[in-house]
Amino acid sequence: MPHYSRCLLCGWLVSQFVAGALGAASLRAGIKRSVFGKMPDGEEIHLYTLTNPNGMQVGITNYGARIVSIVVPDRHGNMADVVLGFDNLEGYLGKDPYFGAIVGRYGNRIAKGRFALDGVDYTLPINDGPNSLHGGTQGFDKKVWTARELSQVHPAVELTYLSRDGEEGFPGDLRVQVVYTLEESNALRIDYRATTDKDTVLNLTNHSYFNLAGEGSGSILDQEIMINAASFTPIDATMIPTGEILSVAGTPFDFRHLTRIGARINDDDQQLKFAHGYDDNFVLNHRGPGLVLASRAVDPHSGRVLEVFTTEPGVQFYTGNFLDGSVRGKGGKAYAYRSAFTLETQHFPDSPNHPNFPSTELKPGETYHQTTVFKFSTAN
Ligand code: BGC
Repeated sequence: MPHYSRCLLCGWLVSQFVAGALGAASLRAGIKRSVFGKMPDGEEIHLYTLTNPNGMQVGITNYGARIVSIVVPDRHGNMADVVLGFDNLEGYLGKDPYFGAIVGRYGNRIAKGRFALDGVDYTLPINDGPNSLHGGTQGFDKKVWTARELSQVHPAVELTYLSRDGEEGFPGDLRVQVVYTLEESNALRIDYRATTDKDTVLNLTNHSYFNLAGEGSGSILDQEIMINAASFTPIDATMIPTGEILSVAGTPFDFRHLTRIGARINDDDQQLKFAHGYDDNFVLNHRGPGLVLASRAVDPHSGRVLEVFTTEPGVQFYTGNFLDGSVRGKGGKAYAYRSAFTLETQHFPDSPNHPNFPSTELKPGETYHQTTVFKFSTAN
């Protein structure tokens, strides 16, 4: 309804309408389950719609444990879905660049698909140039997870998956649990837990593509971002970290203050050229264990604000450089070049091959637990 907000009276009428709609929505706070589609073998896949008392809605499917939609208000109360995706399961089974997925076992790249652990060499599927990306060809994004609605104060869905020893080349039976909780503060909290029966490596993340103006509404280059990082891990031409940890000072990677995403994206910088834009791991400024503000993104036009908090040491900021309009998403919209950004909170890419990076090893008896929160609000 953007044209309504052009006159004051109309703006008021809209806000009254929205307030009424939100009042109605508060009665419907909770979880609704519906059918999202069928796998090729006939297995039914579900969509869980979580609603909070403010009317914020989040869609989660057990195919790939994905976030399918996040519907939040702008500064006038107009609701929009701010993540890219598809209307039904069929879309996700086709050409899909990990929209909203839980990525595993290893988020981002492992050089040449090789790593050694306890003196044993492991080989992973190569699916991105010479490297292994996002857990291989059949990563967690393509698995059917077991879903369960949790009866607790806030609407929440638990998704579990058992990844067998040797799946996509990784060692150990790994039991993974992801819980999505929609809080009253318009925050979507993701808790990741996992255990293994053999030494393994693990790096889970969520691969939501955000456009704070609404999915399918065009370029994100005028949206602004702050990344709470004083350094980043530069990459080589195949997008594998060189192992260095470089200061962002004086580079196009300095997002310590809110900056237009497009301000320097086309600079003559080798790192930007390797990735065709931003596609880099930032080293977050943690002052101790627990959640830290990793990033704040703002759409000055709609006023929508996204804050990302995480326990992870890094965040991969990717500006949709590989979107090219060939993927048609919700409502048949073509998702164009740089029409979304991701903030994938995680350990650093290729950590198993870089002893100077925080370890991604998980051992029997340990419980992996990471938390990331996507919190939405508005600014004037
Ligand atoms: C990677 C990109 C990749 C995208 C989709 C991001 O995490 O860093 O290079 O194109 O995921 O696969």
